[in-house]
Amino acid sequence: MSYEKLPLDEFYKTIDELKPQFIQRLKKAIAIPSVSSDENLRPKVVDMAHFLVDELKALGAQDIQLKELGVQPPPVSNPNIKLPPIVLGRFGNDSNKKTILVYGHYDVQPAAKEDGWATEPFEMYHDKSKDILYGRGTTDDKGPVIGWLNVIEAHKKLNLELPVNLLVCFEGMEESGSLGLDELVAKEANEYFKNVDQVTISDNYWLGTTKPVLTYGLRGCNYYQIIIEGPGADLHSGIFGGIIAEPMTDLINVMSKLVDSQGKIQIPGVYDMVAPLTKEEDGLYDDIAFSVEELNAASGSKTSLHNNKKDILKHRWRFPSLSLHGIEGAFSGSGAKTVIPARVVGKFSIRTVPNIESGKLDQLVFDFITKEFEKLQSPNKFKVELIHDGNYWVSDPFNSAFQAASKATQDVWNVVPDFTREGGSIPITLTFEKELGVDVLLLPMGRGDDGAHSINEKLDISNYIQGCKTLGGFLHYYSKT
Ligand code: BES
Ligand code: MN
Ligand code: MN
Repeated sequence: MSYEKLPLDEFYKTIDELKPQFIQRLKKAIAIPSVSSDENLRPKVVDMAHFLVDELKALGAQDIQLKELGVQPPPVSNPNIKLPPIVLGRFGNDSNKKTILVYGHYDVQPAAKEDGWATEPFEMYHDKSKDILYGRGTTDDKGPVIGWLNVIEAHKKLNLELPVNLLVCFEGMEESGSLGLDELVAKEANEYFKNVDQVTISDNYWLGTTKPVLTYGLRGCNYYQIIIEGPGADLHSGIFGGIIAEPMTDLINVMSKLVDSQGKIQIPGVYDMVAPLTKEEDGLYDDIAFSVEELNAASGSKTSLHNNKKDILKHRWRFPSLSLHGIEGAFSGSGAKTVIPARVVGKFSIRTVPNIESGKLDQLVFDFITKEFEKLQSPNKFKVELIHDGNYWVSDPFNSAFQAASKATQDVWNVVPDFTREGGSIPITLTFEKELGVDVLLLPMGRGDDGAHSINEKLDISNYIQGCKTLGGFLHYYSKT
């Protein structure tokens, strides 16, 4: 593909020159353990918001606001716990320029050295032999969030005007379902977010490890829990085993009915809502650079349920999946504790795709699980509930933002990117599209093997630095559309 190149060499060079400062900035961000799912770490999530505010101030942002979202809705341990604030900021307010809103999240997944990390997850480690940065949040999503700040710093250093008005919206609850953000986006649609032309999100990854991608689809995620309780306290299985109904036995029974070992969801009615595969869509998967071997490398195993690229991609991007995540209250240590847990909470989620209706799915799930529990005729107390949900999203990869992003990517990587979808979820994506009436672009920074949510999460320095160039270059190409 040929295109008219913009004179961005000076800008790209400046990004290279600022590399040491950019690494320092990310290191500071990684050092704040802003884990949104851990109520005890909530103050750190708030610290991270303030860190971003300070950075935005130093970079000259206007109208910086911390938007409070109130108390976190149940289920929670602490009924008074507050949601972390949304960080808003603006660079420029020129009615002759286009306005881009960039969204990212400053919260991260939990991480502990004991989980198997080679280095401390919240002390960024620079492996100088491979030029890789390790640490929780390097790729998901602190690297990209800091990347936007770096783009602004490079413009400042060069005395180069930003080609667009740039709004930032950073949230601290994405990993926990983006609670409260839908309402804020709706409220600010005609206020802070007025005149936004385009939303760009850098919070996903290349499909593989060598070829950049632009992403036009995400799956949604409905997250549920099943609570089963019986005895007043944990009991001795020698004294009570065989003579009382055990909550864990009931829970395992019910959870085992949800999905089979081939990954097929067993809840009736779910697949009926899935959009049929057209011939045209089927053809799209042919040209994507991916292989079973790449999946094996990323999972660190040979456990694929599918033996060809196309089936893998379809099952990752356009079919729903159900994963069993864990059981709160179960004995999970090493050794052999002879306990009967009194109260157990089973957690699972369903990745949703077009045209699954979220509310209808909840009903199918609740009905099925309730029926399965009733079959057990157990005297234990039972409850099933939704913890959070977030919609799927599919867009048009041929719109002007994708074209601009493709040009920036070619400037930086010398290759035409693949157009991909993702199996993961960013709950707010569809909300931006609907509430602001604009297109959303997903412009990733990291690679498919970065290990988001896993141990030893990393970001290659080349992806970090070239990624900053791509984000910045995109703003320039988009401003010409
Ligand atoms: N960055 C991910 C989204 C993502 C995951 C993109 C995988 C591409 C591939 C995001 O931070 C995330 O983890 N989202 C959660 C959302 C959920 C809690 C609703 C997810 O997908 O599990
Ligand atoms: Mn993320
Ligand atoms: Mn994540």
